[in-house]
Amino acid sequence: MLDTNLDKVGIAFRGSGSYIPEQILTNADISKIVDTSDKWIKTRTGISERRISDKNESVCQMGYEAALGALEMADWSSETVDLILLATSTPNDLFGSAPSIQAKLGAKNAVAFDLTAACSGFLFALITAAQYLRTGTFKRALVIGADQLSSFVNWGDRGSCILFGDGAGALAIEACSDSNNLYGFTLKTDGYRGGFLNLSISDDQEEIIDNINYKKGKYRNITMNGQEVYKFAVREVPLVIDNLLKQENYKSCDIDWLLLHQANQRILDAVGDRLDISKEKVLTNLSNYGNTSAATIPLMLDESIRNKKVKQNDLIVTSGFGAGLSWGAALFRWG
Ligand code: ACO
Repeated sequence: MLDTNLDKVGIAFRGSGSYIPEQILTNADISKIVDTSDKWIKTRTGISERRISDKNESVCQMGYEAALGALEMADWSSETVDLILLATSTPNDLFGSAPSIQAKLGAKNAVAFDLTAACSGFLFALITAAQYLRTGTFKRALVIGADQLSSFVNWGDRGSCILFGDGAGALAIEACSDSNNLYGFTLKTDGYRGGFLNLSISDDQEEIIDNINYKKGKYRNITMNGQEVYKFAVREVPLVIDNLLKQENYKSCDIDWLLLHQANQRILDAVGDRLDISKEKVLTNLSNYGNTSAATIPLMLDESIRNKKVKQNDLIVTSGFGAGLSWGAALFRWG
């Protein structure tokens, strides 16, 4: 039984999992549909290829597979999970996709719901789940980030279609009465700049009866002002990380790994440079998967844990950023 003395309730990271679709779309493939080249895409983004879900893959299926991996690593039975939080902008069901993952996992004792904060979604979900654990409300949580942006990309827009891919990642976190590995966090929103990046409902209308119209349940493609998003990321992300490190009494040289939302290699390099964190400590898998939105952070972390790059007790600073605009950071030790 968890000691619910709130001062003592900490967070432990018990497991991770991920899933990537089989289909690979290379830069050369994209060059066949829009006026671009492998060289341009690699130089400007660091991306070589991305994964695209097929008709049997979905946010529910990818999220389920990722959650299963996290459960296995944590050595938890699904019935012991109290909370499942799914960060996604592309659910199978607008009423929520987390319940379907709960059912598929057999996690019958868990409450499960979706949370949307675009590319910051996983970070926001992790912090939300951690609050339930810290207050003693729940003991075990699965936090999943899964997205299928390929369904909403304008495959004729060379300025954005080169960036995105599909995937999922998950973490198993637990309330812990004798230690804490999630130190501090910051979450931010600036809706005034929300127009830089959108996946919005279409204005198409149809008539129900004379003079009463309804808006069709249809979404537009992703629209993005790439340069503004780029400037936002390279300005705000170093700031939010720097402030968090100061708040928690750490310096950038104490950090083992910088785990950023995988948006663009140039953003990762610029943030690392501004924080004076060397390239070897900046985790990246952009080349293989591109930007998988809410999935990038847990996918990157799971890969790094499984290939033994990230080890027990390593100090990691992570930052999610993207549409909203939304961004934030968290400081934690793995384990
Ligand atoms: N291939 C070839 N040429 C291209 C391509 C392409 N795929 N895309 C744009 N261009 C052209 C433009 O038309 C422009 O040509 P012009 O000078 O003749 O007008 C030229 O390249 C330069 O365009 P820019 O938009 O200035 O290119 P930039 O260097 O900014 O790179 C990019 C564009 C890659 C989108 C960059 O702005 C970026 O990565 N921004 C961040 C966006 C991002 O990460 N979004 C992800 C979602 S949100 C998030 O996760 C943060």
